[in-house]
Amino acid sequence: MEELKRRIREEGIVLPGQVLKVDSFLNHQIDPMLSMAMGQELAHRFSDVEIDRVLTVEASGIALGLAAAYALHVPLVFAKKSQSVLMHEDAYVADVYSYTKKVKNSILVLKKFLPPDESVLIVDDFLANGEASLGMASLVHQAGSRVAGIGIAVDKAFQRGHDRLIQEGYRLESLAVIASLEGNRVHFRESI
Ligand code: G4P
Repeated sequence: MEELKRRIREEGIVLPGQVLKVDSFLNHQIDPMLSMAMGQELAHRFSDVEIDRVLTVEASGIALGLAAAYALHVPLVFAKKSQSVLMHEDAYVADVYSYTKKVKNSILVLKKFLPPDESVLIVDDFLANGEASLGMASLVHQAGSRVAGIGIAVDKAFQRGHDRLIQEGYRLESLAVIASLEGNRVHFRESI
């Protein structure tokens, strides 16, 4: 998506550790116009599949998730993060290890917000190691539903998440695919 790539080029800052800071429009301040356009683009890319619900994870996935759900006219549910959930009888729970923050979180969704037999689109702002997306896919499977696909704003395809999701057989649509962050510069991959 050209508009997203342009904003990354103009406003993104590459930090040590292969981290791309885009908090002027995605992760801290949020540009609503860009967010809505990204949601529409995801809805368009998945227009050939049935989608009953969008699932994302707090916090930074919510804006894009809302935009996609609005464009698709379906509900949005966001998984909540918690540091210590072993079992929760009313919720589906998955472990997600953050390589960036070096912590293990549990993510959970109340069972009543993830019904069985649905087709669920997973959405997130960043794809790095794929832990968050795979955790959300686990929640969908626990619910007895299907993953329609995974929609990502910024896909750091040089980390292992991109290949992991494709190897697991998920349909991945990323709005900006980053091939590398070498030399403090953002190098985009033209297609996934
Ligand atoms: P993964 O989910 O793909 O496995 O990612 P990883 O564990 O490596 O990343 C953990 C957190 O760091 C995630 O957000 C992810 O979105 C974010 N992240 C990873 N790489 C980058 C990057 O280059 N730039 C930015 N800005 N974020 C990155 P989170 O902890 O769930 O954060 P939040 O949604 O609560 O803000």
